[in-house]
Amino acid sequence: MIRAVFRTAHNFGWEVLGIEESFGGLLQTKKTRLLRPKDVRGILHTGGTILGTSNRGHPFRFPVKTASGISYRDRSDEVVRNFRALKLDGLVVVGGDGTLSIALGLFRKGLPIVGVPKTIDNDLSGTVVTFGFDTAVSVVTEALDRLHTTASSHRRVMVLEVMGRNVGWIALQAGVAGGADVILIPEIPFDIEMVVAKIRERNRRGRAFSIVVAAEGATPVGGMKVFREKAGEGYEGRLGGIGELVAEQIQQRTKQECRALVLGHLQRGGQPTSFDRVLGTRFGSAAVRLAQEGGWGRMVALAPPNIVSVPLEEAVSQLKRVPMSSDLIRAARDLGTSFGESVCEI
Ligand code: F6P
Repeated sequence: MIRAVFRTAHNFGWEVLGIEESFGGLLQTKKTRLLRPKDVRGILHTGGTILGTSNRGHPFRFPVKTASGISYRDRSDEVVRNFRALKLDGLVVVGGDGTLSIALGLFRKGLPIVGVPKTIDNDLSGTVVTFGFDTAVSVVTEALDRLHTTASSHRRVMVLEVMGRNVGWIALQAGVAGGADVILIPEIPFDIEMVVAKIRERNRRGRAFSIVVAAEGATPVGGMKVFREKAGEGYEGRLGGIGELVAEQIQQRTKQECRALVLGHLQRGGQPTSFDRVLGTRFGSAAVRLAQEGGWGRMVALAPPNIVSVPLEEAVSQLKRVPMSSDLIRAARDLGTSFGESVCEI
């Protein structure tokens, strides 16, 4: 993506300044560097970012240590001041709902900003897909293929917890691609008894193992999300632990050996898929063209077969959840996959 932005802008005869560590680089102007063609050579097939990033340090609610704990300060004016001091004509902001919400706030303060949707969670509205999502799905799918080996050899139930924050796109897509028997997503609260019923039904049919994919944000009916780190002011916490809980409950009820695995940050690393390389390239060049047209306050988006743009506000105002009308949910159900829903919810 950075390569596409740089090369397109370079071909337009523009200079490109890389800002390091997300908005942190605009709180300290020293964290910027003029990009040159050699900086973007050989990065097409690599993940991550050459500029570094952060999902902490919100400039509108910047955490500051005080004698009595942590307080939050609005440092957005500093960002605006430093942006102007750098004499930039426009800013391309790349990220998920948190980053693009900050971008919207800064756009409202007068900064000329275009957004690019990049998150493995695929939870931004206005675009059919965000870049990074396909790579995460392919990592999870491969993990499921590998888990099938031990599950079937040891006749176990394997529970794989995957990322996705408050939405179930990764779990759903990878669960279907990897042939999971049960898929638990935040959009469909699950009943553990229904999960167990599915596993027992498989056992009756001579299938002595089962694979369960649990999105980190999945919740039991009437229950709460499970956090590794509790949410605090300005911090929504760190999800994690639902896989272990589900595995324990299945083992208690079925007496079958059950193992839980958290895939974690493996989903955010490694080589991007060809789909993501192409999408990142299209988004990056479209973002520069959007800036050229003065499309400030907008985000590039995929509306197949085209790249379009939508207001940043539309992208971040509502989380894109898996809709209950999803054809993929329907297809998975038709094939016998359980979402652990209580019978009355189907
Ligand atoms: O938003 C992307 C994401 O990977 C989520 O799926 C996950 O919940 C979160 O970030 C993890 O954040 P961190 O890397 O800070 O633990």
